[in-house]
Amino acid sequence: MKRKDFLKLTGTGAGALLIPAGIISFISTGCNKSGNMGGMSGNGVPVTDGEFLQALPIPPSIGANTTLAAQTTSAALKGNQSYHVLGYQANSILGPTFRINKWENVSINVNNLLSEASNIHWHGLHIPAAMDGHPANIINAGTSFNYNFIIQQRAGLNWYHPHPHMATGKQVYKGLAGLFIVNDPEEAALNLPAGEYEIPLVIQDKRLADTNLTYNPTVMEVMSGYLGESILVNGKFSPFHAVKSQTYRLRILNGSNARIYNLAFSNDQSFTIIGNDGGLLKTPVSVNNILISPGERLDVLVDFSASNAGDEVFLISKVFSGGGNAQGNQLFKILKFKITQKMNAPFIIPSILSSITPLTATQASRTRNFDISNPGMNMQSGTHRINNKLFDENRIDETVSANAIEIWQFDNSQGDEPHPMHIHGIDFQVLQRIGGRNSLIASESGWKDTVLVMPGEIVKVIVPFGSNPGRFVFHCHNLEHEGDGMMLQYQLS
Ligand code: C2O
Ligand code: CU
Ligand code: CU
Repeated sequence: MKRKDFLKLTGTGAGALLIPAGIISFISTGCNKSGNMGGMSGNGVPVTDGEFLQALPIPPSIGANTTLAAQTTSAALKGNQSYHVLGYQANSILGPTFRINKWENVSINVNNLLSEASNIHWHGLHIPAAMDGHPANIINAGTSFNYNFIIQQRAGLNWYHPHPHMATGKQVYKGLAGLFIVNDPEEAALNLPAGEYEIPLVIQDKRLADTNLTYNPTVMEVMSGYLGESILVNGKFSPFHAVKSQTYRLRILNGSNARIYNLAFSNDQSFTIIGNDGGLLKTPVSVNNILISPGERLDVLVDFSASNAGDEVFLISKVFSGGGNAQGNQLFKILKFKITQKMNAPFIIPSILSSITPLTATQASRTRNFDISNPGMNMQSGTHRINNKLFDENRIDETVSANAIEIWQFDNSQGDEPHPMHIHGIDFQVLQRIGGRNSLIASESGWKDTVLVMPGEIVKVIVPFGSNPGRFVFHCHNLEHEGDGMMLQYQLS
């Protein structure tokens, strides 16, 4: 039941503002079946900080012609403690980082050595529908598939992960994911920090009390998402990384199933956002903290030149508001930077990073509205819907003409859970946020493929659909919500 319907039933209607505050909070928190008061959007899982004694692993880089083998393996996620995980290579979670130039032809053979169906979605890549890892295009256990496509898009940080319906959450949680970096001449001309000064960071939360990484969310955990008490970076719990007092480029993916981070540094130093899901922004933006939700990426420059050898600076997640009951309630540490060497060669950040033409609402031929409020009053599976529909691979929900420019509006105004909404096959620009935070954040200029819609918010994005025909999905990137059915498909023709 939606909150506004509840208000209708209570006969208050427009008089809702006169309801005493206690009742309002009852309405918004609800109660569960057992009659206990508790958030209908699920409860948070507090994070436990570690000691930051393990070196940060950097996944190996790989080129355009390769084989990935999805397999059960083991990995030392916490100290030397071994866990049963899924990997694309033996003895680790996460796959290698692809580094590919624009116009390269990519051929990736995926062997599914698992005992269940899988596939790979190349999140952020603009490739033919048959290569996109649609949930209907699976690789059965014991078989393989060759993903073959040409990179025709600008530089940026993309990623890959399985997408079999109802199993994405489990397979990603157990370790299947990796980065896919595209390079191009526009980006190369900026001479951004590279080599040891460019650090990929995949941030994920897991439950490390269980060495089997069991994934079996309860109904309440489908509401909140499957949150873990332990934060891993590049597959390692509580790591550190030695740095010089220099500018570093951090290529950050939130690869968590559901957790949102409010990234900041423990000394509260500012840092510069230069890119996001769709590549470089037009101009750099300096911030002190920035939200990143599951599926989103950030390209960040951080200058440690004010630090001295021996200093320690933590990448942290700060408290934030508006994340429903489950998220944002706690400050915790993610990664320790140990400054080991003083340098005096500051990197001068270019004032123009790339050229981006902003789209305006008047260019759109139509607006499609997607109700994602799902107030969660219904304690059963299939609660997470879009326009009151659950995913059905045999139903096309939206038909879009080639080269159309459209506004897609995600309406979470009646909802009480955050929803990071992701559209396959395209990049969009974020036009407007109404309600909640009421404005766009620093990482939401330029091109994106995933946008966070907090409770109470309506977010409008403008999408140039291009002419890549076929059937693509769009969904909430809280992977528990996605698995619960919060995914539809559009056909581009
Ligand atoms: Cu990373 Cu369909 O998603
Ligand atoms: Cu995607
Ligand atoms: Cu969601």
